[in-house]
Amino acid sequence: MASGVSIDALAERLGEEPIDLLLNNAGLYGGSWATDAARQTVDGMDYDLWHRIMGVNVIAPFRLAARLVSNLQAGTGKLAVMMSSDLGSIANNQHGQSHAYRSSKAALNMVTKGLSIDLESSGIKVVSLAPGWTRTELGGEGAQWDTDESVRRQRQVLAGAATRVSGTFIDLNGQAVPW
Ligand SMILES: NC(=O)c1ccc[n+]([C@@H]2O[C@H](COP(=O)([O-])OP(=O)(O)OC[C@H]3O[C@@H](n4cnc5c(N)ncnc54)[C@H](OP(=O)(O)O)[C@@H]3O)[C@@H](O)[C@H]2O)c1
Repeated sequence: MASGVSIDALAERLGEEPIDLLLNNAGLYGGSWATDAARQTVDGMDYDLWHRIMGVNVIAPFRLAARLVSNLQAGTGKLAVMMSSDLGSIANNQHGQSHAYRSSKAALNMVTKGLSIDLESSGIKVVSLAPGWTRTELGGEGAQWDTDESVRRQRQVLAGAATRVSGTFIDLNGQAVPW
């Protein structure tokens, strides 16, 4: 996806088909937060991984949203959601670590804000969502939420009032996360 080839292929396959909700979910940590954090420390940074993370977590979501503007405009929901992370909050960063992943999600949040401005005249809203620490390959076994509960809450938030304001960063309760 990061190369753009599959994004172009998807856009061509969709043609003019309307999209009500674009959920930009794909993301990369480089293994699991629980077991692979050592690749993102001061001493152990894997710089190739950092490059790949920026490609998948920042550039690809921008590219996908940019490529699908006319589809979103034709849809009824007109909403693009960027799957961010609590780890992308600069204000809430108390623990350091995970520099590659954290910086990618902070950059993604900037993309959300910027696109919310650029796409306002098209009627398209763009929000960042923090899906909570969830037991996936990325989140690891010790995470707070199982996937069913995380997704149930995500759906509730996406259907609710929180996503009616563009350019925001919200959590699983629809509450604002400090940037
Ligand atoms: N789990 C958590 O605790 C947590 C917390 C905060 C935010 N998030 C965010 O939530 C989203 C989903 O994460 P997850 O927990 O479900 O992680 P995951 O289990 O590691 O799944 C990541 C997903 O992203 C896809 N992906 C990765 N690189 C890709 C690429 N180059 N092209 C296309 N697809 C790619 C993967 O596809 P393949 O399976 O085909 O590789 C997979 O479907 C991510 O954006 C993540 O940053 C997760």
